[in-house]
Amino acid sequence: MITPNKISLAQIPTPLQVIKFEGKNFFIKRDDLTGCELSGNKVRKLEYILYDAKRKNADVIFTCGGDQSNHARATTIAAKQIGLNTKLFLWGKETSTLSGNLFLDKMYNADIQFLNKKSYDRVNEIMFEERINLLKKKKNAYVLPEGGSTTLGIWGYIDFINEIKKQIDLKSVNSIVAACGSGGTAAGMLVGAALYRADIKIVAVNVLYSKEEIKKKILQLAEGCILDYKLNCKINPENLIILDGYSKEGYKRINQSKIKLIKKFAAETGILFDPAYSGKSFTAYYENYLKTGKRKKNIFVHTGGLFGVFGRTKDYL
Ligand SMILES: Cc1ncc(COP(=O)(O)O)c(C=O)c1O
Repeated sequence: MITPNKISLAQIPTPLQVIKFEGKNFFIKRDDLTGCELSGNKVRKLEYILYDAKRKNADVIFTCGGDQSNHARATTIAAKQIGLNTKLFLWGKETSTLSGNLFLDKMYNADIQFLNKKSYDRVNEIMFEERINLLKKKKNAYVLPEGGSTTLGIWGYIDFINEIKKQIDLKSVNSIVAACGSGGTAAGMLVGAALYRADIKIVAVNVLYSKEEIKKKILQLAEGCILDYKLNCKINPENLIILDGYSKEGYKRINQSKIKLIKKFAAETGILFDPAYSGKSFTAYYENYLKTGKRKKNIFVHTGGLFGVFGRTKDYL
């Protein structure tokens, strides 16, 4: 087994808390608390990725996402912490409101290129073309795909399983439920569960791709990681559950019934969910586990995304 190196960026271990909502207790793993400006699930992946970028003598990091991408913001801030700049290729408009994550991207001086949806579909090509242009000027760009979801980045969520194993007896856990965008978080947990011999269902609440697409992406990433790092484990595809239908309003939107639940939860517990990810995954957890009495052995992961709220203040209020 090859274990990659990482730099330390995240405030971990994050707490595994018992929270009471509507009179019912359940476990919530607070990955929203991996830091402050640098927070949420992305930080765990960036610890591995930025070590690699440094080792490869990167001059700049290229990455991509929506104009309110948590990943783009976290990459920008983390890169600054190790003395690197970022160029972000964002799906949005020059006129997108400068709030939330986009405000922070600007604040930390990220170089931003906006792309419309059609161009964004070929964002990886665009980043690699730009990398070649820079190489001609003897500048080395490290290209990081959407969500930091590479076979290296997902090590952050292999470690997450080891971390949670020290907080709870994994034999008492049926499933771990988390929001899913690019699939790296779910893929890492799937590999982690296999590696640490925990027979747990990984429940990915899909917010971005079609059910079939995301399932394929997650399994490819997980199996790719096992091959790349010669891991002595095998994925059981049946342990991956895609909980679909919780982003019907679209990735960049959130409907009022979810906002109502988010506000009720915030008022009762003090914990706030974002509009793109954790607000949707919590709605899925609420409907499938909390309300149905299946909550006890099923852990909900708060993956962060707080700054996204500030891009949606009117909807929230
Ligand atoms: C707050 C938040 N939660 C969950 C996710 C989903 O993680 P992944 O892209 O690894 O599926 C993201 C990804 O951008 C995120 O920002």
